[in-house]
Amino acid sequence: MEIINRATRMVSVARDLRADGKIIGLVPTMGALHEGHLALMSQAREMCDTVIASVFVNPTQFAAHEDLAHYPRDLARDAELAFTRNVDYIFAPTPDDVYPNGYKTYINVETISERLEGAARPGHFRGVATVVNKLFNIVHPHFAFFGRKDAQQVILIKRMVKDLVMDVEIVVGPTVREEDGLALSSRNVYLSTDERKAATVLRRALEKCRSLYHGGERDSGRLLNAMRAIIEAEPLARLDYLAITDTTNLEAVTTVPYVSPTLVSMAVFFGKTRLIDNIVLNGEI
Ligand code: PAJ
Repeated sequence: MEIINRATRMVSVARDLRADGKIIGLVPTMGALHEGHLALMSQAREMCDTVIASVFVNPTQFAAHEDLAHYPRDLARDAELAFTRNVDYIFAPTPDDVYPNGYKTYINVETISERLEGAARPGHFRGVATVVNKLFNIVHPHFAFFGRKDAQQVILIKRMVKDLVMDVEIVVGPTVREEDGLALSSRNVYLSTDERKAATVLRRALEKCRSLYHGGERDSGRLLNAMRAIIEAEPLARLDYLAITDTTNLEAVTTVPYVSPTLVSMAVFFGKTRLIDNIVLNGEI
């Protein structure tokens, strides 16, 4: 495994691999790797000849008040973990390399970037779309792997790829969870012991929604109320948003349709730590 720090070198390595006929898989991450990331790397390993994992804490997707400065960074640990999944290259550029002086170009995926996570975190998805586009330009992968845990991110990236006719196939991996159902996240380390216990409330609320739905409930208002009641019963949890939407434009739906996939998503604060989770009813994103 090789660690590459410079975009120019990554471009030439990837170009040579492609010229050699290798199928290239890219797993974009911000490091602080856990089983959620590693599962994507294993999936890439199965599908591709060469696996490239990027590790880059992307400053443009953090708002000024967010945790950019404190986001966990440990490239040596990340490299060891990626090595266990037979990753071939780690691409870990510096912020200056990705956004050199005078940088001016950003990608805006309209509507999708403004809703749910985008409404709560203005500018976030502009940063995500921009860096992912840039990673695609640098690596030019055949396949790029993303987790369903960040469903809106998947929807946004698929839209961008389609709209801009990007020559890459997006592969979506399932959400990896702790035994008690908490979705793995690099931000889980911020939780106190009590908050960690309380954090199962996201999954519990989503499972309640799923079981009501399977029992025949289609009314979004009643599904949302049932989930809200579970979250409000947890004193350490503070609901940021909770929504039932379509998976195309992330428009709220009043009735869960029988045929099209429907996203149930939420963000919940525990102290300063903000966690997200989702399920998709009726299909996949
Ligand atoms: P990061 O939060 O590091 O996540 C990297 C990838 O791992 C994303 O595709 C995310 O959806 C996936 N992932 C995280 N937790 C997961 C879990 N519990 N189960 C399955 N997959 C999981 O998402 C980003 O970084 C950034 O926005 C990025 C795409 C790298 C752009 O900067």
